[in-house]
Amino acid sequence: MTPSPPDAAPDDLDHAVAAADAFVLDPAVVHLNHGSFGACPRAALDVQAAWRARLEAATMRFFVLDGQPALDDARAEVAGFVGADPAGLVFVANATAGVATALDGLVGDGDEVVTIDHGYAACRHGLERLVARRGGRVVTAHVAFPVRDPAQHVDAIVAACTPETRVVLLDHVTSPTALILDVAAIARALAPRGVHVVVDGAHAPGMLDLDVAALAAAGVAAYVGNLHKWACAPKACALLWVRDDLRRRIRPLVTSHGAALAVDDPRRFHAEHDWTGTHDPTPYLSAPAAIAAIAAIGGGWPAVRARGHRLAIAMRDVLLDALGGAPAAPDAMLGMMASLPIAPPAGVAPRDLERGLLEAGWEVAIAPWPRLDQIYLRVSAHVYNRLDDARRLAAHLRALGIHGAAE
Ligand SMILES: Cc1ncc(COP(=O)(O)O)c(C=O)c1O
Repeated sequence: MTPSPPDAAPDDLDHAVAAADAFVLDPAVVHLNHGSFGACPRAALDVQAAWRARLEAATMRFFVLDGQPALDDARAEVAGFVGADPAGLVFVANATAGVATALDGLVGDGDEVVTIDHGYAACRHGLERLVARRGGRVVTAHVAFPVRDPAQHVDAIVAACTPETRVVLLDHVTSPTALILDVAAIARALAPRGVHVVVDGAHAPGMLDLDVAALAAAGVAAYVGNLHKWACAPKACALLWVRDDLRRRIRPLVTSHGAALAVDDPRRFHAEHDWTGTHDPTPYLSAPAAIAAIAAIGGGWPAVRARGHRLAIAMRDVLLDALGGAPAAPDAMLGMMASLPIAPPAGVAPRDLERGLLEAGWEVAIAPWPRLDQIYLRVSAHVYNRLDDARRLAAHLRALGIHGAAE
């Protein structure tokens, strides 16, 4: 046997970091789309099952006595994980809900709101509906892709803002193109103009070394992040953080008991968002267990992120080599996902391609963007992935007659 060179990475990309039974993933499926719905480790699912059993054993005891201190503990741990002040952090079911809540509190009548052409479609629909109701308008900043100049997006977004702009909605990691945007630089540029920057960081917790306090210092008004994606919490687990001067304005979309507290009561922000009616809080309570489980599996979150980044780049390069094409973004603008344009055989719609791949056991994101006739394939790299996943996908795509496309 040839000894490994001394500088060989211990977590060689040809091997998954996670043991085969660390997740409950179907071994018959190749899982290359962590980005859409995440994957929860068995250890966190076990903790969630224990919380559910405790809740169902005595519902009043749970909801009146035990649930709130447990939620506060989970909040403190999650806040530490993302570098946020727990006083400004609440759990929400998902990023879509968190973004809608933040925008509802910040967009006023007749306001102009700037967003980007790489934005997540569902959040854009919510924004358009809200702005239409309030008699304002949405302006779309163009972020050039492929990326030739990593600073272009900062300049383009700031330049799209006019004196009428009151709110900017930005994705921290873009969904179709997997780009990490410099949201701090954008917030710093817009803070003197009094523009409220809302960051949709659906992919950020876990993928990025998040420091929400630093983003707050840069001027970010509200930050939303999913915990059920890269932090691997059970489904329906996300966070909404709001800057202290805006907490009175950002109220849940559903009003419940917390509204009885006085407007200036400092407990009201948590009270209103923590209880919007009877719900299942076990995803929130299990988020710390998921964060700890992934750290244990991957040798700490910095190592998980570093390997995931290297693996995403290596996967992209394997696919580009096999299908043809060139990287669309500098490696430094990517986290644990990468996208590349593909050309399916003539007449095959993106939905049909995705469904066909699913039926054959391949989970990979396929999305038309920015037009229906331009299709991106996005791969994700987490602790259960290895480079061979991408090699096998590349061979399968070639066999289907799919090749790389020029952007
Ligand atoms: C940028 C972005 N925002 C929001 C979402 C929505 O997340 P959820 O379905 O958990 O609300 C996603 C999901 O992929 C996303 O990529």
